[in-house]
Amino acid sequence: MRVSLLCASLLACVSCVTTQGQGAQASSGGNRNTAELDDWPALRSSIALDPAIEARVAEILASMTLAQKIGQMTQAEIKSITPEQVREHYIGSVLNGGGSWPDKNKHASVADWLALSQRYHDASMATDAKVPVPIIWGTDAVHGHSNIYGATMFPHNVGLGAAHDVGLIEQIGAATARSTRATGIHWVFAPTVAVSRDARWGRAYESFSSDGALVRDYGAAYVRGMQGAFREDGNVVATAKHFIGDGATENGKDQGLARVTKAEMVNVHAQGYYGAIEAGVQTVMASYNSWTDADTGAEYGKMHGAGSLLTGALKQKMGFDGFIVSDWNAIGQLPGCTNSSCPQAINAGVDMIMVPDDWKAFIANTIRQVESGEIPLSRIDDAVTRILRVKLRAGLFETSPAANRYAGDPDALQHRDLARRAVRESLVLLKNDAGVLPLRRDQRVLVVGKGADSVPMQAGGWSLTWQGTDTTNADYPNADTILAGVREAVGKDNVVYSADGTTAVQGDFDVVLAVVGETPYAETNGDIVPSDTVAHSRRHPEDLAVLQRVAAAGKPVVTVFLSGRPLYTNDLMNLSQAFVAAWLPGTEGKGVTDVLFAKRGGGVAHEFRGALTFPWPAVACPDAKKAPLFATGYGLRHGSREPVGTLPVELPQACAAASMLPIFKMADIAPFALHLATGDASRAVGADLNRTIEFPAGKPAVRVQTVQVNTQQDAKQVTWLAPARFYAINPSRNNLAAFARADGAVQFDVVVSARSKAPVMLSMGCGTGCGAEVDLTAALSGYALGSKHTVKVPLACFAERGLDLGGVEVPFAVSASAPFSAAFTDIKVVAGSAKHADAVGCPAKP
Ligand code: BGC
Ligand code: BGC
Repeated sequence: MRVSLLCASLLACVSCVTTQGQGAQASSGGNRNTAELDDWPALRSSIALDPAIEARVAEILASMTLAQKIGQMTQAEIKSITPEQVREHYIGSVLNGGGSWPDKNKHASVADWLALSQRYHDASMATDAKVPVPIIWGTDAVHGHSNIYGATMFPHNVGLGAAHDVGLIEQIGAATARSTRATGIHWVFAPTVAVSRDARWGRAYESFSSDGALVRDYGAAYVRGMQGAFREDGNVVATAKHFIGDGATENGKDQGLARVTKAEMVNVHAQGYYGAIEAGVQTVMASYNSWTDADTGAEYGKMHGAGSLLTGALKQKMGFDGFIVSDWNAIGQLPGCTNSSCPQAINAGVDMIMVPDDWKAFIANTIRQVESGEIPLSRIDDAVTRILRVKLRAGLFETSPAANRYAGDPDALQHRDLARRAVRESLVLLKNDAGVLPLRRDQRVLVVGKGADSVPMQAGGWSLTWQGTDTTNADYPNADTILAGVREAVGKDNVVYSADGTTAVQGDFDVVLAVVGETPYAETNGDIVPSDTVAHSRRHPEDLAVLQRVAAAGKPVVTVFLSGRPLYTNDLMNLSQAFVAAWLPGTEGKGVTDVLFAKRGGGVAHEFRGALTFPWPAVACPDAKKAPLFATGYGLRHGSREPVGTLPVELPQACAAASMLPIFKMADIAPFALHLATGDASRAVGADLNRTIEFPAGKPAVRVQTVQVNTQQDAKQVTWLAPARFYAINPSRNNLAAFARADGAVQFDVVVSARSKAPVMLSMGCGTGCGAEVDLTAALSGYALGSKHTVKVPLACFAERGLDLGGVEVPFAVSASAPFSAAFTDIKVVAGSAKHADAVGCPAKP
């Protein structure tokens, strides 16, 4: 384990010697109690109860009907509700989910957003209520106003954490808030104050640090920046999310189970809430995860139903007097609930319910549950009191979206200098053997790697689209790639660019700059499953290949690694003289080159300032007993002379006998990608959840839409109009032999909506002319239309028919030759599944 000596000069260094689990003691300032807590602390919000506001709240509440109150507690998605419906149903809030824009237009302008917001507002003020209550719109502006075309995107929180600069975070919070108000929106679902303890979590990049004390400071700064004192046009309501333990789940499984002690929950995972509440945060979002106390075995269940935490801990003990919003369709995950009915969550303390689509049924059900006494009216009154209090505090009653100095102003979405500074500060120099950095400006540079000219890779998830996929550089008109920064630094003529590095052999250059890393993902889709390794090259062999190719040229290699988390990269570091963790820097790629290149004429232009806020792994298979390669707090400076040297390399295929190989669930799971084909033509389905794909365009043989089978927007509805194939492909192939030996089956959920008159085949492929198929027709025709079934077909069945299990390129393909329609999701290969009684089995060979 290496701990940089230089780190001793950083504020953060207190934490670099702190072992995990003692985050609360590593606090870095303020007059706070550093003793270990044994219970939820009483906190004082910087926004005190105001008797005048409270009196006004009571007056409005007294004037409201039950329908108006339940409407107030309802948050619908903009795709599912019109302004007219907002008026009619007294709706209290709308949101735009990730990748949801006015008129489903990815390029909607600031004026379009503002106009829609003004229409919702006007509708909310035009109800027949005695006192109309203005609507509040919430959005995931999680790294800048990140759903908006043309907006500046800041580094994700993982990078902001590494910068260790509280003032910077406060400025970013304030800038993001102004951008948000420009579009007429008043409420941001940020900051995420998760304390991520496992980099396998698909949301690790939304976390500032694995150290609770840092999360406390940064969460507080973010809230101060966003909310200000609600006195300025640029202030918005902030959200601390997701309460509680989202970063504590076993193996980093998104929405999973946190098995931690209460001491760890109150001293580590709750720290962000302490900071945010003291800074005056007005809303808290409940979390999808569940919690079982590792000491006592007490089960709290899913957080949305945990009254002792939402009401007991957060509202009563910590004194939170704002409101709790549920997460997207999260109520439907509670036992006995559906997406449109969940008295349990309301009784547990959820005040506003995010019911993106089923809001109408939710309102009807909830009114009935209050009338029957299942939900006490006092609970409803408390929820509405909290919502009205926040709306009054935020000044919503005195203003309208357009009546704001930033309203409609595209310049209010431009914070490029601030973001560029954030990028500079966030870079962590992990290796600089032989002092290659800073790079001289009089050199010829070979630039390689798939990340060199890619704003989508810089931006990561939650960027224009939910997953951050299905975008290109053209979707980012105000952005610079790292390649653009290199061209500016050394002059266009001194840059040779080759994404895959193939020109390395014959090129004329002095130094290589490789930009490699993870491709975008969000939420569960970014999880690394427990059987998998955290070796970057396992999921992205193309990056190792590029480095191997350029290393052969014998020139120094500087690698910039774009990732949402620390990953095992010993193999990549050995091929690089210098290695920089650049996280997910956002739109300002020139922030990277600002630091990489020396001043004209020599000398450091910008020093590396970043230090790790998460440990960097030394082994490919996570092992809590092994020391990290670089501890938190590590980060070199240009002049550091601490060679990393050659690191041992192990690249196992897997860490445990995989019990499952995920292929598709809500979105493609790398390295697999869903495709459509007819004849020789094919295309990727892609990640745009809002689009209907017709393929081939003009004369479609097949149509694909996103629908719900298990959770929202998790499935692909595929409609065959003519012969076509719907399949998943991994060009680098999988060896499924071990799965086959372990009674593995390929498995997926299906809902048939229109039967086929011709056979429907399930096939697996192992390259051109290699593969096998199984007839699914009989199985499918046994399923009632509209009902969900899990299909399991033994791998052995394909092997018998000639599949080469050692090199499976297509693990799942459905083909039909006549009209047929079905929704598919949760496609995977599962060990043991072939034995299950409900497996389709191996139909007789034709
Ligand atoms: C939405 C996201 C949301 C997610 C929840 C997506 O379809 O666009 O905003 O976070 O569903 O799983
Ligand atoms: C995410 C939240 C997000 C919400 C709305 C959920 O899936 O967990 O973080 O705020 O969707 O998009």
